[in-house]
Amino acid sequence: MRPWETLAEADAPDGERLVLRRRGHEYLIVVGGWDLMSSRDDTTARALSTIGIDALRERAGARVLIGGLGMGYTLAAACDALPSDAHIEVAELVPAVVEWNRGPLADLAGRPLEDPRVEVFVGEVAARIKAAKAGEFDAILLDVDNGPEPLAHEENAWLYGRAGLREAHRVLRPGGVFGVWSYSAEGSFDRTLKSAGFEASVHKVANRGRDRGRTHAIWLGRRR
Ligand SMILES: C[S@@+](CC[C@H](N)C(=O)[O-])C[C@H]1O[C@@H](n2cnc3c(N)ncnc32)[C@H](O)[C@@H]1O
Repeated sequence: MRPWETLAEADAPDGERLVLRRRGHEYLIVVGGWDLMSSRDDTTARALSTIGIDALRERAGARVLIGGLGMGYTLAAACDALPSDAHIEVAELVPAVVEWNRGPLADLAGRPLEDPRVEVFVGEVAARIKAAKAGEFDAILLDVDNGPEPLAHEENAWLYGRAGLREAHRVLRPGGVFGVWSYSAEGSFDRTLKSAGFEASVHKVANRGRDRGRTHAIWLGRRR
């Protein structure tokens, strides 16, 4: 098997080291020694957008906020699913991840950052949600951690807790959708969603690429 080659390294705002690696056509982003994101299988990252946007009553003129750029698959699926008058904002914490998506990772998901409907917010998605006007978004789609339980980064706890969900509820239009990628469908996140005023559902998604056989989940909260 070919060895991994290091393409670039950068520090996240919290000081953790990010390393971008390549082996043949496969790319990997490693953070603090563990695999954050791989290009092996994009099925469930894309499903966050397809399932979330499917749940919208109206796609025309939709405004969507995506939390976590990663390798751009969720963003690319949103671009595919939305009409030409949509606006898609992607919030990414690590400037180098945005840079890599304009460079060595750009072709993986089909260069979604070049789509004229896309705007990048470099920073905490929580900060973007807090700064949003009431009813600004039709959908908020988050893939910034393992999912609600257990979190890899305690700093993301606000986003998946009651206070963050109430804030997401405020900035979504009635009928708007809050979607979360999750490593598994286990846990009681549906109860947290309901306590913040959402109708809750969970959708299991099986990988169809090189991680075939592994299943993850998309949690959806719909604002009544
Ligand atoms: C697993 S990756 C997302 C993968 C993405 N769904 C895709 O299609 O490739 C998580 C991303 O979220 C970013 N991130 C982590 N915490 C964040 C936060 N609080 N706000 C914004 N971005 C965050 C990470 O830097 C990383 O790029």
